[in-house]
Amino acid sequence: MKAVILYDSKTSGGSTEALIDSIGLSLAESGFYVEKAKCKALADYSFIKDFDLVILGAPVYYFIVASQLLGALIQGNLKKCLKRKKIALFLTCGSSESVAALLYLPQLKMHLLRNKILAEKIFALDTFSDGSVDAFVEDLLLHYNKPPKSKVLSAKWTAEAQDWFQSMPAFMQGKFRTMAEEYAEEMGYKEITLEVLAEARDNLGGT
Ligand SMILES: Cc1cc2nc3c(=O)[nH]c(=O)nc-3n(C[C@H](O)[C@H](O)[C@H](O)COP(=O)(O)O)c2cc1C
Repeated sequence: MKAVILYDSKTSGGSTEALIDSIGLSLAESGFYVEKAKCKALADYSFIKDFDLVILGAPVYYFIVASQLLGALIQGNLKKCLKRKKIALFLTCGSSESVAALLYLPQLKMHLLRNKILAEKIFALDTFSDGSVDAFVEDLLLHYNKPPKSKVLSAKWTAEAQDWFQSMPAFMQGKFRTMAEEYAEEMGYKEITLEVLAEARDNLGGT
């Protein structure tokens, strides 16, 4: 199992790097091979295909999540390279956890709407304790190791999606149904809509 921690910080040896080292150590103790990489907005992130788990972490400066990580998601190819990756997020900040959940975490999450986020954590000065890192890694591993759900797939097709499905050539329907239902299950969607089908097609590389 291979994990990479992608981070940004203006402070060499600051609190973000200290957290990353603790998270990395904790993951390594759980059997992961761990690397860390400091983000540059326009770097090439195709190397993350070699990793099973990607953790994104950064501090907040002047109300904005550190710019190289945000830039990598907005301007660079990080978002594209994260497709279908298991990810986790964390922030470090001086504000309270509730403020950060409202103002800062969404700055990252709005670029990761198509990812399954296994765990997210705000390491805020007001709630930080030695156990915080362990709790984050525990939560992350719990979701990482969760066995795949049973093949009794539960997402319901909307009438529009069903109509569209019926219009497909019969020989393609079996494979397509399985692909769509597994995608919905993986993403936690309760309904298969036309939008979910389009998203599955984009993410799974169909035409
Ligand atoms: C210049 C500067 C600006 C900051 N701005 C904010 C802010 O707007 N909101 C906040 O919650 N924390 C803010 N902080 C606190 C940092 O997010 C926090 O101390 C973080 O752990 C710093 O990480 P680092 O040690 O890796 O730089 C700021 C810190 C600095 C040094």
